[in-house]
Amino acid sequence: MEPRSAIDLDPEEFRALGHRLVDDLAGLLERLPELPVTPGESPEEVRAALGEAPLPEHGAAPGELLAEARDLLFEHSLFTGHPRFMGYVIGAGAPLSALAELLAAGVNPNLGGYPLAPIASEIERQTVQWIAELIGYRPDCGGILVSGGNMANFIGVLAARRAKAPQVREEGMAGTRLRLYATHETHTWIDKALDMFGFGAEGRRMIPIDGSLRMDVRALRSAIAEDRADGFQPFLVVANGGSVSTGAVDPLREISAVCREEDLWLHVDGAYGAFAAAAPSAPDDLRALAEADSIALDPHKWLYQPAEAGCALVRTDADLLDTFDFTPPYYRLGADELHYYKRGPQNSRNFRALKVWLSLRHLGREGFAQLIERDIGLARELDRIIDAAPDLERGPGGLSISTFRYVPDGATSDEELNELNTEILGRLQTGGEAFVSNGLLDGRYWLRSCSASAPKRSPAPRRARCGTRSSAACRSPRRRGSPARSRAARRGTRSACA
Ligand SMILES: Cc1ncc(COP(=O)(O)O)c(C=O)c1O
Repeated sequence: MEPRSAIDLDPEEFRALGHRLVDDLAGLLERLPELPVTPGESPEEVRAALGEAPLPEHGAAPGELLAEARDLLFEHSLFTGHPRFMGYVIGAGAPLSALAELLAAGVNPNLGGYPLAPIASEIERQTVQWIAELIGYRPDCGGILVSGGNMANFIGVLAARRAKAPQVREEGMAGTRLRLYATHETHTWIDKALDMFGFGAEGRRMIPIDGSLRMDVRALRSAIAEDRADGFQPFLVVANGGSVSTGAVDPLREISAVCREEDLWLHVDGAYGAFAAAAPSAPDDLRALAEADSIALDPHKWLYQPAEAGCALVRTDADLLDTFDFTPPYYRLGADELHYYKRGPQNSRNFRALKVWLSLRHLGREGFAQLIERDIGLARELDRIIDAAPDLERGPGGLSISTFRYVPDGATSDEELNELNTEILGRLQTGGEAFVSNGLLDGRYWLRSCSASAPKRSPAPRRARCGTRSSAACRSPRRRGSPARSRAARRGTRSACA
């Protein structure tokens, strides 16, 4: 059959290109453990590889283009699915989900309106239900898949504003002194939310943390009382269900009790940690997720999905509709059907649910619980390795996060150590052997490893140790000898939340 238009591919060509691409990807996945995590190129080198060129005036052959794109990506990428990638919180990327993305794009349903995506909308609905079930959330909740943790958190904040401050819809923010409560450990999405939704910096009251980096609930109570006396309208508490820096889980049960007493919305940022509720060794507080009014989750973190896949869960479907349902006269899609454009900020939406749905079916609850448990186990194993290393000090860490810093003999100040560890991080991040990120806690700069790639990793801690101790990155001229005992042991330093 001839292609129908210039942008179509001849079916035979499409088939041949697709087979070739899948073969190439299979080869990459096979070779990944032997490849460097990153080529560590400078932006100039990357730009040079791409080349400067004006918009092409004329087209080119798809086969050549795909081969060129493959080479660019294979040769100049950092591989987040690499077994020794331990930076940030990024899922390994399930191979089945890569195929799901191809299938979804090939069929191309638009999950704004039900008639445009009937089976896809039902699959998204089921995916949301299963995610809720996996973490022990309310079976009758509402939910929607979004691009990631930021978007999922934004939805929680907007649902809270709608439920607790409905006057804003008509009156806007003028004359309303809304206050939300969160700790310094909250991810930076909250700064964007304050700004984008018009709360302003004044709209947040920072609640102190305790020695375990968790919200101080007594301080929360007094802050709410003070604010009410000062004419603010408290409306929302944002709790961490696995903080970005250390995986700390706020005391959700106690916070939930405060929210009920004070008639505040409880939103849990579980973008990193909420899926750990499925694992046997999850912190007890994660078992209280059902008490939240809304939860942000990120399947592209600890459900091992390729980006993008976030998920917002809200206590009922009606809460989402109440927040986002604006129906214009030009949409005649059927009143009672499952239209996702009424349940979130997006209008046209892709079928990201397919990859999550397939993965949940591929492994089931048990499979995911085991993988997450294994990631947590790998982090604790890394903790033990750090403790046994004479020149490493362990910092706070929980869930699948470990933090540590290199402390050579003779190092005297935090400033000196911060500088040294910043340099080590820079070398590690471009060296290609292993990739970690960093955290700054109490003025101390920590190297931070986060495991969200158990499917690809075996036996990681040994390699992680190579990556941080004996690699070129750690061969610092300042390192002197190897004292017999662990630095952490000598200082009596232990993580606040490990
Ligand atoms: C706790 C937490 N919340 C929110 C986010 C933002 O998620 P995303 O990058 O998917 O928008 C992150 C990212 O690491 C996170 O760890």
